[in-house]
Amino acid sequence: PKRIRTHHLQRFKGEGRKFTMITAYDAMIANVLDEAGVELLLCGDSAANVMQGSDSTLSITVDEHLVYAKSVVAGAKRALVVADLPFGSYQASPEQAVHTAVRYMKEAGVHAVKMEAHAGNAHHVRAVVDAGIPVMAHAGFTPQAEHQLGGFRVQGRGEQARKVIDDARALEEAGAFCILVEMIPATLMEEVEAAVQVPTIGIGAGTGSTGQVLVWQDMLGLNNGRLPRFVKKYADLRGIITEAVRNYREDVAQGIFPAEEHTF
Ligand code: KIV
Ligand code: NA
Repeated sequence: PKRIRTHHLQRFKGEGRKFTMITAYDAMIANVLDEAGVELLLCGDSAANVMQGSDSTLSITVDEHLVYAKSVVAGAKRALVVADLPFGSYQASPEQAVHTAVRYMKEAGVHAVKMEAHAGNAHHVRAVVDAGIPVMAHAGFTPQAEHQLGGFRVQGRGEQARKVIDDARALEEAGAFCILVEMIPATLMEEVEAAVQVPTIGIGAGTGSTGQVLVWQDMLGLNNGRLPRFVKKYADLRGIITEAVRNYREDVAQGIFPAEEHTF
């Protein structure tokens, strides 16, 4: 199948169609999601949470995260693979941002990087784009700034709406091919989508964006932790796995497994 490119995503917006992104952190899940038709795979720094059991994304390092990103690339035949740049790996300077983004392109082989950014540091996005690397910008609620933003809260309410739109415009101006916006009111998402030419992706932001994204362990019901309101559970993998493992254990206890056909 032909690889999805950034210009295909732009076409979705032009034609009023929607696309889908799901996170992935390993080759096998990436391959399942890819074959199911998802247009984008995101190796999020949410790997800190769902792969490493951390309660924050701040802890994951570039060296740890590159391994996941490389695995996702190996499993994805058609989807465009995006990797988050981890906290601390691109905020210090435009040069640091380019250095880190280049590592993801070179060592993991991803097709684009994602940076949490705003109008004030859009020049970091610009530097990476100038290096020839497609950048997805992440605005609205940005988890790496959790402690500055006062926890996981909806952004862009009331007076703050202007800032979200200004950030999105500045990030488009800096060359981002797509603007992801997290946890803002649905009406504001519609305004952001209208304010920029590039496609937007929403999470906890209603239906106004061109694309949607969810974390796979959340949407497929593997995660049994507390889920944000914006997650829809499309399957109960935890229930399926639990039942299967109980059956296996029971078979072993009863001496039913392995049977003759599993035996040499
Ligand atoms: O890290 C992540 O998974 C993300 C998405 C949920 C947007 O940034
Ligand atoms: Na992220």
